[in-house]
Amino acid sequence: MATVLAIETSCDETAVAIVSGREVKSSIISSQIPVHRQYGGVVPEVASRAHLEIINDIITQAMVDAQLGWEEIDGIAATCAPGLVGALLVGMTAGKTLAMLYSKPFLGVHHLEGHIYATYLSEPTLKPPFLSLLVSGGHTSLIHVQECGAYKTLGETRDDAAGEAFDKVARLLKLGYPGGPAIDRIASQGNSKAFVFPEGRVSLPNGGYHPYDASFSGLKTAVLRVVQQIEQTGAPIPVEDIAASFQATVAQALTKRAVRCALDYELDTIAVGGGVAANSALRKTLTAACAENNLRVLFPPLKFCTDNAAMIGCAASEHLALGNTSSLSLGVHSRLAL
Ligand code: KG4
Ligand code: ZN
Repeated sequence: MATVLAIETSCDETAVAIVSGREVKSSIISSQIPVHRQYGGVVPEVASRAHLEIINDIITQAMVDAQLGWEEIDGIAATCAPGLVGALLVGMTAGKTLAMLYSKPFLGVHHLEGHIYATYLSEPTLKPPFLSLLVSGGHTSLIHVQECGAYKTLGETRDDAAGEAFDKVARLLKLGYPGGPAIDRIASQGNSKAFVFPEGRVSLPNGGYHPYDASFSGLKTAVLRVVQQIEQTGAPIPVEDIAASFQATVAQALTKRAVRCALDYELDTIAVGGGVAANSALRKTLTAACAENNLRVLFPPLKFCTDNAAMIGCAASEHLALGNTSSLSLGVHSRLAL
């Protein structure tokens, strides 16, 4: 297996890892969350500058932690899409420069392919075909993983991503940024049956519902209405109960679609990835539903659910072993299908 130095700078984490196959030799994640918190969300220009300030130190630290010399690195990888263009450019430029400097093959990796590979890091037995449920701040997708590089998207969100819904609902409940972990924490003290929120089904022209697609913008609006109604009465907002009910609705919506999709496509394993894979309600609901339906469900360790470079390195290691490389003229893209 190829030993890869991988860089991930698509959003607000500056991350560098050294990975050989499924073995993580070092992984450093420097989060910009404290920088962006004061603005209530990620500010793209601030993110690019923060990546630039720290990327060289993180690369050096990853090499020191792995106790490897450059002669032992077989290739360099960097996330090329999707994400914030300025932020992606920092990691890609650093990666290409290292590849040129040390005469190594270079590979641009799709961020979502990285999230799919996060599960491989903890599960040596996992191999395609399986169903990937990708739930992050930017995506909510059900992906049929056929083999390395062959992915078929079977379901998506029609509007907000699951993580985006968590962040928006957290903002309106004044829970701060990032919203997912804040809602997860406070929901543990609430009653998840206190409010009934709409699950957000996507209608089909024949009068039925799309079995795998999701929609979270209606759910967010329903939460807003409840908050506004309670505010009008002057009563205190039951933040814990609203958070727990909202979280349970999202967990249920994702679970239903993922289980149905796995059964329909006769895939016996669901591998969950992305920041929302850290959510405790989703873990519990999906694990129970998979047990009932004789499906295997795999969640990456929490540190590999949210953005990291180890997942990018894991994907790159397999691609490089197959002889796949990118040209140094490869560009970055804010949006790109998997
Ligand atoms: O994968 P990720 O780090 O970045 C993207 O590629 O988007 O995901 C970040 C998203 C944020 O929306 C954050 O609120 C959400 O993941 N998140 C969570 C939890 N931890 C992070 N959502 C729900 N529960 C959590 N425990
Ligand atoms: Zn991500």
